[in-house]
Amino acid sequence: MSGCFITIEGIEGVGKTTNIEFIEKLLEDAGKDIVMTREPGGTSLGEDVRELLLGHKHDGMSRDAELLLMFAARAEHLDKVVKPALDANKWVLCDRFTDATYAYQGGGRGFDTIPIETLENLVQGELRPDITLLLDVSVEIGLERAGKRSEPDRFEKEKHEFFERVRQTYLQRAKADPTRMIVIDASKSLADVQAQIQIAITDFLQR
Ligand code: TMP
Repeated sequence: MSGCFITIEGIEGVGKTTNIEFIEKLLEDAGKDIVMTREPGGTSLGEDVRELLLGHKHDGMSRDAELLLMFAARAEHLDKVVKPALDANKWVLCDRFTDATYAYQGGGRGFDTIPIETLENLVQGELRPDITLLLDVSVEIGLERAGKRSEPDRFEKEKHEFFERVRQTYLQRAKADPTRMIVIDASKSLADVQAQIQIAITDFLQR
């Protein structure tokens, strides 16, 4: 495998969508061949699973079912999209990946790390992101921004404390692996956030 795997993470309302497009442009300008994708989703099966996970048809789904569905979607995504793209020397830019599972199912739902690690090893083998940008804002700001969008999905309906645990788990993971996981202060103006992203990507391209 010789491409590069970049993931973007953060709680709701951090501005992932706008900033992913910015990152795509930076990488294209650097001559990279990009595949943009997302989790849960990115494949036909994965998008169906996403609907099950985010919609309200299965409100109250067990946390085991939720965790396993995340990894089922991920297995298909890796098989059909991520690994073939990396094998073809492409750069995969993915909106969320397994850090989100540690943050939401681990931190948010209270899952122990061990079962998540077991599934991670089973589904991904050795594959891990080469770099992850964690867009970070306070839960207050994130939820306020997210609330201005469409109807809340099954995760967006969670309480403030849930997102506080999610955010803290993300920050702990970044602290434990600062070379891979770069924290971007997304509470700043868009221009400032994009300046931080540009520095992180430029540094990475020079590694
Ligand atoms: P988004 O990608 O549109 O922000 O929404 C996806 C939602 O799914 C978001 O609330 C986070 C959640 N999620 C998990 O709980 N675990 C995961 O592993 C992933 C990839 C996403």
